[in-house]
Amino acid sequence: MGSMPCESEGFVFDPSSLFSRRVQRWEPGAIRSLLPLEAIPGMISLVAGKPNPSTFPFAKISITLNGPEEKTITLDDAALSEALQYGLPAGHPGLLKWFEGLQQAVHGIEKTSSWMCCVGNGSQELIHKAFQVFTDPGDAVMLETPAYPGISAFLRADQMELVEIGSGRDGIDPAHLERVLESWPRDRELPRVLYTVPTGSNPTGVTCTEANKAQVLRLAKRFNFIIFEDDAYYYLNFEENPAKRARSYLALEQEVNGETGRVMRFDSLSKIVSAGMRLGILTGPVQAVQRVVKITENVNLQPSSTTQVLALSLFRNWGYQGFLEHCTKAADFYRRKRDVFAAAAERHLRGRATWEAPSAGMFFWLKLILPPGHDSFDLLSKKGIEQRILAIPGMAFLPNMRAACQLRASYSLVSEEQIDEACRRIARLVDEAWLEDFLEHAKNMARQKQTLLVQRKTEILAE
Ligand SMILES: Cc1ncc(COP(=O)(O)O)c(C=O)c1O
Repeated sequence: MGSMPCESEGFVFDPSSLFSRRVQRWEPGAIRSLLPLEAIPGMISLVAGKPNPSTFPFAKISITLNGPEEKTITLDDAALSEALQYGLPAGHPGLLKWFEGLQQAVHGIEKTSSWMCCVGNGSQELIHKAFQVFTDPGDAVMLETPAYPGISAFLRADQMELVEIGSGRDGIDPAHLERVLESWPRDRELPRVLYTVPTGSNPTGVTCTEANKAQVLRLAKRFNFIIFEDDAYYYLNFEENPAKRARSYLALEQEVNGETGRVMRFDSLSKIVSAGMRLGILTGPVQAVQRVVKITENVNLQPSSTTQVLALSLFRNWGYQGFLEHCTKAADFYRRKRDVFAAAAERHLRGRATWEAPSAGMFFWLKLILPPGHDSFDLLSKKGIEQRILAIPGMAFLPNMRAACQLRASYSLVSEEQIDEACRRIARLVDEAWLEDFLEHAKNMARQKQTLLVQRKTEILAE
């Protein structure tokens, strides 16, 4: 428990003291834990129930890349047999090495024995497993709010107490976080996890400043919790000058706290390479990542070999430089979409909604100006369908599911014309809500007037 000195990284916090009871019950997978030993030279392995690849139907796998040259990468025999075979639970060693190099290059961290990466079938799976490592059903967990519903849904199913931490135009609000922790009842265990989406938050599109991240990191040390940094939109940052982008929690931890070990960072390939390949990466303290891997060993054995090998071939072909250039192109694409949406919102929604243009990612978070008592869930689920406009009501992003006036509009797939029409339809919904409210009011007034008239008539007749 506590911090341990480590030669090149100063102090390293050992997160094991915050592990859940349920994760202690997972045992090493009986077969998977022996697989690394197969690599020892001269070993004859009779261990795994690996199928014989000669019975598989694939002779070749190749991918052709977008671009003027339409470059084709064909897996060689060794890569093909790895792609079709069972692999290691933490992920393909070559891909892990590539990601570890990427994290060092992008976040400026040194490679030490205190942290490691593992691969998952998308970052969502890794986040779910990481929650199992640090929480037991019924625990309190802190969520930057509004929050990505993919996380709050499984936390609610585990009957977690969802503690909402406010977020504004600079990202998560550290002052609110501090108030929550300082006023935490003394007879209750403090929450062990804070979940946050710091870049282009889903749903708000807001990016957290470095100053706020530094304060959150200090609070993590003071109140002894782990930060789950879900950075699915990290590579879709609209700030063109990399020097002006806020560094990640992973990058800042050592500088701010003089120690490492409190950040579990989740990256996703879904938004930049392919969502269907289901590849996500966890980077974090060795003890915690190993626990996640232990869950994988027992639950789903490993992330897909086929997609890992394809991704690795692609990345080796690109190199880090090529990968980052590709991400810049993807960010440029979404920045242009963001600008088109911002212009359409300006045209149709001024006075009907308020918003901050997103600084990364693929979402606009619109706060509709609705008559009292109206909310976006009602509006979208009834009138929205009629008007042929679908968007996600704000309620879905409030972990404790209150009515809300906001909606999340995604601009990733729609054309310029559709964006314009969508904003026009949302404007119509707002106008109709006010019209309905006005008519309801007028009806009530008429009813009241009628009642008064009848009353007065009765009085006159009685006189
Ligand atoms: C904030 C956030 N985290 C995680 C995910 C899941 O990503 P993946 O496809 O890597 O599982 C999403 C997907 O939309 C997301 O928006």
